[in-house]
Amino acid sequence: MKAIILCAGKGTRLRPLTFTIAKHLIPIANKPVIYYSLEKIKGVGIDEVGIVVNNENINDFKNFLGNGERFGLKIEYILQNEPKGLAHAVSMARDFIGNDDFLMYLGDNLILDDISQFVTEFRNDEKLKASILLSPVKDPSRFGIAIVNEGKIVKVVEKPKDPISNLAIIGLYLFRNTIFEGIDNIKPSWRGELEITDAIGYLIEKDYKVKGYIVYGWWKDTGKPEDLIEANRKILDDSHFKIEVNGVIDSLSEIQGRVYVGENTEVINSIIRGPVVIGNNCVIKDSYIGPYTSVGDGVLIESCELENSILMDRVKLINLPYPIDSSLIGKNVQIVNSERKPKAMKFVIGDMGKVEIVR
Ligand code: G1P
Repeated sequence: MKAIILCAGKGTRLRPLTFTIAKHLIPIANKPVIYYSLEKIKGVGIDEVGIVVNNENINDFKNFLGNGERFGLKIEYILQNEPKGLAHAVSMARDFIGNDDFLMYLGDNLILDDISQFVTEFRNDEKLKASILLSPVKDPSRFGIAIVNEGKIVKVVEKPKDPISNLAIIGLYLFRNTIFEGIDNIKPSWRGELEITDAIGYLIEKDYKVKGYIVYGWWKDTGKPEDLIEANRKILDDSHFKIEVNGVIDSLSEIQGRVYVGENTEVINSIIRGPVVIGNNCVIKDSYIGPYTSVGDGVLIESCELENSILMDRVKLINLPYPIDSSLIGKNVQIVNSERKPKAMKFVIGDMGKVEIVR
């Protein structure tokens, strides 16, 4: 069995961050989103992975993941340059997939549940032509949804106006080669895309056995800043999150709860209250870092309070008058309170940046 991860989406809702980094490479608890899917894939014994990318983000992926060797995987890159839908992405991966069965993973999807039973059941039942991971949701019209009868999917609908089921397709699919028969027989939807949901619908119409595998644990499609902040909280809460304090913590500082501090980081006269992860080569001085915060490498935080936020590499926060909360701050951003006159705010912010100030 092989795996494909679909990462050709542009991540427009995560601009400006996605002007310089693919959304699947944004860090959550200091690990790019895609690492979590690679771990799941490796965990179910798959080692050949095709990553479907576009020609703008392919080099970022290559720089981060290379040929996959350091994850114990064999990674290949497959181009999908036109956003023509998920079924179109799968058809781009046809040569890579060959005659194998495959796991398809939407690259911005994060799931905490163990997926090994989902995969094992599919491997053991040759009559199954597809198995789709489903989860009950409050807002089914945002998703592809499925009607399930005794474990079998009897109908799927993409973004229904009047949902007839609350079971959403959440982004992990298991297919045999039969899916290409479906893809070859569908037409673009109202949004101009070849929908994988329609290809699954074709399999159902042809009476192929399609299973709905329901999960009840936490999962998230990390398309918006608030999703990433929530995902960061969940991952930091997870018991697998590594606790280790490296670096130098001075005697005036306090580390409370589950905290990871990277190499060469200095914590001076500060309180760190976990769960928190702090990268390498940071300086945290006269500050408070509260729960659910991830701090990248080379960050400087001086006389600030923050919590429930993600700071990427080399951010500088100095002397801020109010605490920072629920924020997502990209690489090399500086937010500094200076004593300079006139007493005015001074900004250099890229396109689509967002600043919220409370007086
Ligand atoms: C896609 C699929 C949809 C699925 C969703 C999961 O929707 O078409 O069936 O429920 O991903 O995130 P899109 O994100 O393209 O709107």
